[in-house]
Amino acid sequence: MKYNFNEPIDRSKNFSAKYDEVKSKFGRGDIIPLWIADMDLKVAQPIIDAIQERAKQGIFGYTSRPDSYFEAICNWQKRRNNWQIDRNLVGFNLGVVPALCTAIKEFSEENDKILFMTPVYSEFFDSVENWGRIALTSELKEENYHYSVDFDDFEEKLKQHPKLFILCNPHNPVGRVWTREELVKIGELCLKYNVMVVSDEIHSDLMLWGNKHIPFASISEEFANNTITFISATKTFNLAGLQASTTVFPNKEVKEKFERFWKRMDITRNNCFSLVAVEAAYNYGEEWLEQLLTHIEGNMIYVKEYCEKNIPQIKTYLPESTYLMWLDCRDLGLNGDELVSFMVNEAHLGLNDGRSFGAKNGFMRLNVACPRYILEKAMDNLNIAVNRLIK
Ligand SMILES: Cc1ncc(COP(=O)(O)O)c(C=O)c1O
Repeated sequence: MKYNFNEPIDRSKNFSAKYDEVKSKFGRGDIIPLWIADMDLKVAQPIIDAIQERAKQGIFGYTSRPDSYFEAICNWQKRRNNWQIDRNLVGFNLGVVPALCTAIKEFSEENDKILFMTPVYSEFFDSVENWGRIALTSELKEENYHYSVDFDDFEEKLKQHPKLFILCNPHNPVGRVWTREELVKIGELCLKYNVMVVSDEIHSDLMLWGNKHIPFASISEEFANNTITFISATKTFNLAGLQASTTVFPNKEVKEKFERFWKRMDITRNNCFSLVAVEAAYNYGEEWLEQLLTHIEGNMIYVKEYCEKNIPQIKTYLPESTYLMWLDCRDLGLNGDELVSFMVNEAHLGLNDGRSFGAKNGFMRLNVACPRYILEKAMDNLNIAVNRLIK
């Protein structure tokens, strides 16, 4: 089936955080929202069909997870990433952030250090700090918008005995797909300093330009034994509102300790719609995903070329993965607060402030998972606002 990702969308009755929370987040309603990481795009038809079929039954009692649910997840990883997961070491979770919080809570103590590389998804900071742990950060090196691990600094940080290292694989917001060589070096250092790895692989299906994702735990048995991995159909297939993610554990002991927390909260069952949607996504969503990636690539090329041609003060590059672009706005000459205010009040754009990811002043994150006409309007707004600013 051919999907048209440029079809006009209407989220006005969608109860979406991205649109309905614009006023409370940005202070005004006349904003094009390009912030939170979901897509202004309809999901794959087999997912809609599966949910409609389930809805038609009209009975929505407690669910029981069939074997086929985790089989679909394991098959997807084998097919797409050549990662053979032990079916007994897979678990259900509501979301990756709740799962991350659980790992932090169960595998570290208050005031322990937790290491991660910045700039990075803001919830890494929030989850660590909300649980009374200390964020220990290693800043990525940047050269011509290519971000890489500063291994000297990373090792220095590992020497400070963090309890966990949270890997973002691939890395939001800079879009890096870590190479095998980089992952091996990271993993060996974590083993050397006896630091458990939590690998957040939520963006791992969003590989652009033919890049290949390498699941960190698939690299070796030693790495697998030292890693908890988070994956989710919700990012790949735009199902965040259904709240179902997957955790892959190194062994039974870690799985039991982790899941005890959820059992105590009595949160162990999928809701009836996520149950059928996730399975349909992994079994029948590949065709949609391949077309989506082409659409995302096209949108990214559009934004990059638009900036180069019309707004040279804003620089960007084509990330290796995700549907998020990292904008370098430093040449606008604005400080952090001024830049946020400029984007909101002059360009009428709702972007993510780079500082929330631990970046220096001057960076913004742009979500391009939308029909092209939304981006065209956004880029024109930005162009007009920049021209007013520099006049
Ligand atoms: C790296 C990363 N992890 C986790 C999440 C959110 O996961 P969830 O919605 O499953 O809690 C995001 C959302 O953008 C993300 O970028």
